[in-house]
Amino acid sequence: MKNNLKGKVAYITGGSKGIGLGIAASLASEGVNVAISSRNLDELTQAAESLQARFGIEVFCIKSDVTIFSDEENAFSQIMEKWGHLDIVIANAGVGKFATIEDMTTEQWNSTIDTNLTGVFHTTKATIPGLINSKGYLITIASLAGTNFFPKAAAYNASKFGLVGFTQAVMLDLRKYGIKVTTIMPGSVATYFNNHIPNEEDDWKIQPEDLGQMVVDLLKMNPRTLPSKIEVRPSMPK
Ligand SMILES: NC(=O)c1ccc[n+]([C@@H]2O[C@H](COP(=O)([O-])OP(=O)(O)OC[C@H]3O[C@@H](n4cnc5c(N)ncnc54)[C@H](OP(=O)(O)O)[C@@H]3O)[C@@H](O)[C@H]2O)c1
Repeated sequence: MKNNLKGKVAYITGGSKGIGLGIAASLASEGVNVAISSRNLDELTQAAESLQARFGIEVFCIKSDVTIFSDEENAFSQIMEKWGHLDIVIANAGVGKFATIEDMTTEQWNSTIDTNLTGVFHTTKATIPGLINSKGYLITIASLAGTNFFPKAAAYNASKFGLVGFTQAVMLDLRKYGIKVTTIMPGSVATYFNNHIPNEEDDWKIQPEDLGQMVVDLLKMNPRTLPSKIEVRPSMPK
């Protein structure tokens, strides 16, 4: 990818808030055409309006549940119809359901794996034709829970360990097309994750726009170099 990102097209799952919205803002500030998706069209529309007010650009909203493959196929079709190319995919949508294994329900297990792991497979599989054409960039948002274990996190750890493995294997599959693939593994980020409400006591955490800056830096990196797996954590945890 070139240093100038203006006119590129990005698709960000889970773009209505949190990390996805932070990445959308950083890309919009670089002149990238941004499509955001989630399951809630009202929240998407609000997010798009806030980006439009800040950056004066139109943001395309797509209602899609990543656990449903046809939703992601439909999202890709809509983007191709609108812009004719897709250069950047940020597979970010995810959930956190935490309980000890004795208390964990099959619903909690299934929705965590279906969203955080199978959802990223759906997004990747649906958008590969666009990424091949553009020699594009796929970034997945995993977690430090993809390498460190936590109590009450059997489902979340399993989904994120799986996602790190998935992304690295996909990176090896797609390199031959000139597609770059990176997984970002953040520690604590100030978002709505796990029913949290961001507040002033979150200032020690990574902020969503810090990850947006990281994504821009990755996209501008020299084409010959690929940081394929990045751990990122608060520099001064509480
Ligand atoms: N916050 C952290 O500390 C942290 C740390 C490491 C990694 N992460 C990862 O970062 C990613 C983003 O999380 P966040 O912290 O930004 O949380 P967030 O503020 O709760 O945002 C999550 C986003 O994902 C969307 N989403 C959830 N399920 C979805 C589905 N089935 N289909 C489509 N969209 C869906 C949500 O919208 P709807 O619910 O309206 O669909 C929302 O837009 C997740 O993968 C999470 O595991 C977060």
